[in-house]
Amino acid sequence: MNDPLLEARSLAKAFPSPEGPITVLSQVDFSISAQESVSIRGESGAGKSTLLYLLTLLEAPDSGELLWRGEPVLNKSIRAVNRLRAKLLGFVFQSFYLMPELNALENVLIAKRMLGGLSSADKTKAEGLLKRVGLEKRLNALPTTLSGGERQRVAIARALMNNPDIIVADEPTGNLDEHTAEQVMDMLLGLCKEEGTALILVTHNPSFASCTNRQLFLQHGAL
Ligand SMILES: Nc1ncnc2c1ncn2[C@@H]1O[C@H](COP(=O)(O)OP(=O)(O)OP(=O)(O)O)[C@@H](O)[C@H]1O
Ligand SMILES: [Mg+2]
Repeated sequence: MNDPLLEARSLAKAFPSPEGPITVLSQVDFSISAQESVSIRGESGAGKSTLLYLLTLLEAPDSGELLWRGEPVLNKSIRAVNRLRAKLLGFVFQSFYLMPELNALENVLIAKRMLGGLSSADKTKAEGLLKRVGLEKRLNALPTTLSGGERQRVAIARALMNNPDIIVADEPTGNLDEHTAEQVMDMLLGLCKEEGTALILVTHNPSFASCTNRQLFLQHGAL
């Protein structure tokens, strides 16, 4: 059995409210190994997005332990976490989050640019990824001129640009029609498999969830 790429123990998170703190996650244990795909389902408001933010340290848990590649990360500086995150994780969100003033190719390259300078090999790689998601003819297209499905395909290419160990996807097909959702999900699952990238997929769709190696439910603050 592989060592986990990411492991969480007893993660907890509450949010303040006028009536006192509301516990969203109480006891979350989670781990994912290299090349594994895991889906997480649960009712709206169950805390799925919150959990992804904690696992990726976009938000800090109130308590618990978090290890990335076996290394505890909760006590690290923001700078160190950002550096580790950029290598470990790629993100795909429901609402794409492309930069509106950048074209498709530049949106993919920005992932690499954040880690340092760009080389011509990076450009070739980004073009290759966009080709693999079927957008080789839209390299110069601005996001506003792309359909929702095309925008999400750019986001998938961007998520893979730095060869992350894990892609974290939060309802990546939530804004797409049924047919487009299937195409985009096929692409995401297929590319992760080909690249050997692990996948944490939050989805409401049971048939997409059934395509992953392991299916989890988030309920009453725990998995
Ligand atoms: N920053 C915040 N401040 C206060 N409450 C929050 C905050 N973020 C999330 N919550 C609350 O935490 C709960 C879980 O939210 P979360 O977005 O994680 O749910 P979800 O499972 O992703 O839902 P959905 O399926 O609708 O996306 C909700 O009740 C939400 O209102
Ligand atoms: Mg959510």
